Amino acid sequence: MSTISLEIDGREITVTPGTTILTAARALGIRIPTLCHVDGLEPSASCFLCCVQVEGQRTLSPACALPAADGMRVTTDSDDVHASRKMALELLLSDHAGDCVAPCAAQCPAGLDIPGFVQGIAAGSPRHAMEVISDTLSLPGTLGRICPRLCEQHCRRCDHDEGLAIAALHRYATDRNLVAPRPWEPPAPVATGKSVAIVGAGPAGLTAAFYLLRAGHACTLFDAHPVPGGMLRWGIPDYRLPPAALDAEIEVIERLGAELRMSTRWGRDFTLADLRRDHDAVFLGIGAQLSKGLRCEGEELALAGLDFLARVAAGEPTPVGERVIVLGGGNTAMDAARTAIRLGADVRVLYRRTRHEMPCLMEEIEGAEEEGVTIEYLVAPVRLAHRPGSGLDLTCRRMELGEPDDSGRRRPVPVAGSELTLECDTVIAAVGQGVELDLPKSEGLEVTGWGIAADSATLATNLPGVFAGGDAVLGADLAVRAVAAGRLAAASIDQYLNGRAVEGIASWTDVAMRRIDEGERAAIFRGIESSPRVPTATLDRSERLTSFVEIDPGLTAEQAESESRRCLSCGCRKADGCAVRNFATEYQVDPYRFAGDRRRFRQDSSHPEIFFEPGKCIVCGVCVEIAEQAEERLGLAIVGRGFEVAVAVPFDEPLSGGLREVARRCAEACPTGALALRTARACDLDGGRLVSLGRSRLRSAAGGG
Ligand SMILES: Cc1cc2nc3c(=O)[nH]c(=O)nc-3n(C[C@H](O)[C@H](O)[C@H](O)COP(=O)(O)OP(=O)(O)OC[C@H]3O[C@@H](n4cnc5c(N)ncnc54)[C@H](O)[C@@H]3O)c2cc1C
Ligand code: SF4
Ligand code: SF4
Ligand code: SF4
Ligand code: FES
Repeated sequence: MSTISLEIDGREITVTPGTTILTAARALGIRIPTLCHVDGLEPSASCFLCCVQVEGQRTLSPACALPAADGMRVTTDSDDVHASRKMALELLLSDHAGDCVAPCAAQCPAGLDIPGFVQGIAAGSPRHAMEVISDTLSLPGTLGRICPRLCEQHCRRCDHDEGLAIAALHRYATDRNLVAPRPWEPPAPVATGKSVAIVGAGPAGLTAAFYLLRAGHACTLFDAHPVPGGMLRWGIPDYRLPPAALDAEIEVIERLGAELRMSTRWGRDFTLADLRRDHDAVFLGIGAQLSKGLRCEGEELALAGLDFLARVAAGEPTPVGERVIVLGGGNTAMDAARTAIRLGADVRVLYRRTRHEMPCLMEEIEGAEEEGVTIEYLVAPVRLAHRPGSGLDLTCRRMELGEPDDSGRRRPVPVAGSELTLECDTVIAAVGQGVELDLPKSEGLEVTGWGIAADSATLATNLPGVFAGGDAVLGADLAVRAVAAGRLAAASIDQYLNGRAVEGIASWTDVAMRRIDEGERAAIFRGIESSPRVPTATLDRSERLTSFVEIDPGLTAEQAESESRRCLSCGCRKADGCAVRNFATEYQVDPYRFAGDRRRFRQDSSHPEIFFEPGKCIVCGVCVEIAEQAEERLGLAIVGRGFEVAVAVPFDEPLSGGLREVARRCAEACPTGALALRTARACDLDGGRLVSLGRSRLRSAAGGG
């Protein structure tokens, strides 16, 4: 038999006639990505992902369908090839109708596998839920109480009835696990001999410690306060987050081996240079501790909101008198107002914009009002002075909203001649917090206008081995973002300590349907009855006003299990095995580059073994070919034209009629989630029994990352 000699990526190979470039490249160990190619099936050459450059040819060719020829010189990777593959993927995804991950999880800054942990609760196993949760979230009981729940407003159930009570569920799993006779705790680490200094024992620092300890690195946390917790302890009042709940979660981190050096201040008791000398890496999670002033005459007479809350948290006597005015509209203002009312004062909050612009949660505003706090809008301070005799005079001015400022919110503008003077005993200034920047600068760290400068992908600062995150980098923000930063920093520091490239946490390229239309809503919720979200219980008003007892008692086991059963386990059944998503991530595609009208989401669930979601089909023809080879009576066919082209059973027969013998094989070979096994969901329940424990568990069970 004659043979053919050719060169692929500069390497010679001899093959028999009829061999494709793809097969020849594989024989040389050269990887060419493929989507529509399946060994043993006729090439359809429809995806173009396998494109290669043949010397002397103007256009690229699909390697899976290109026969080798004598003297051919082929390049399998170049800038052009890479760009073409990227574009091929972007075109394939341009009209994709599906959510790779559940819409709720896509919005959690910490990337919590929400359907995964929720199914643990549905199966009556808070322990298993905990295991899934702690892969990405530390302090889940704390966050379950205070997180603004960025996830819940994106829950798919909002399109049907009400979003799932996600935060209450991870709080439930944590609280139950902590009191269980055999609570789940992270496995004991194997020591690496490396040590990390962490400055700040707030959520960012504690989380960095949690994940670094789990990776086997020793962690010492230094904090200026006498007790750890950061703003969770010194800012957020006990009625929202009882210290015992926070302590229980910090104890888990201590049991993992964290060494806490409290009442130890960077800049007074040690320098950054000391830490860099004594440890292998440093994480700075110092938060935003500076209270901004009122910027008006007499501002020094006001009590800083943070100081007020910290004194009450420390149990110090904090007399505020009978009439308290709180200035501000954020979390600190609401917490100060609701704390002052618990101390017996009559409380007014003055905010210079309107209710609509208030940066705190609406339920905080409503809670404050229920407790008797009066909120007045479009009022700003002008002057604060001692009142003859006792008390204070706060002179204010009415405002109106003008043009939007840098934050996008409409700027408050004074109304001429609108001054008014209010009498009170205490003014609490809660108009914002800032990061201490002089200290980092004095130690050689670069800073931004609002925090320590750190690379957003890795949290590395300009100093080798020094990382920073949380409020210290972002400015005053949210606890869940501080937790996410702590985990990201831990991943980067682990890479740094192991001498690997510091890249942070790899993220997937995902597609999302975002808004759905009426037809899609009907498809997603077919057969799913409306059921209201579990009601939130709150402490009786009279008890609230006389104590700092936690307002929200949390869910009972019965409530948690029934709420968790409302979860639809959204997200693609094949997210982990989808070749399109894998390649989209590898080629760093922008799935919305060519986004126009996307296909509509539909689901055919008539087949006993598989689901078919045509909006995810890339018309590769693999299933059609498999059915044909297996001589299925009806099989599948590619029907329609242009934009409407799709795979379907001929004669409009149901899927069960088209695929009688090879449904499973088709689903396994389908490169996307268009055809998926009924059992393929990461956390399907089988008669209430937990089949598996979330995607992360599945990946590790499969030996993946
Ligand atoms: C009153 C209030 C209410 C809030 N409510 C909410 C809420 O409901 N939901 C929400 O998500 N977020 C809320 N936040 C925001 C949230 O608490 C913060 O985003 C979060 O705590 C930031 O975490 P961090 O670890 O970056 O910093 P921090 O929590 O501020 O912790 C920093 C730690 O560093 C220590 N430190 C600082 N400087 C030094 C130094 N020089 N030497 C040694 N130690 C030092 C501090 O003592 C502190 O313990 C609230 C904040 C406040 C102030
Ligand atoms: S941490 Fe916050 S955003 Fe994340 S899942 Fe919990 S409540 Fe949602
Ligand atoms: S139903 Fe469950 S998985 Fe779907 S968005 Fe809501 S919480 Fe997430
Ligand atoms: S359904 Fe068939 S044609 Fe569509 S992507 Fe899957 S295997 Fe390819
Ligand atoms: S065109 Fe070759 S794998 Fe799709």
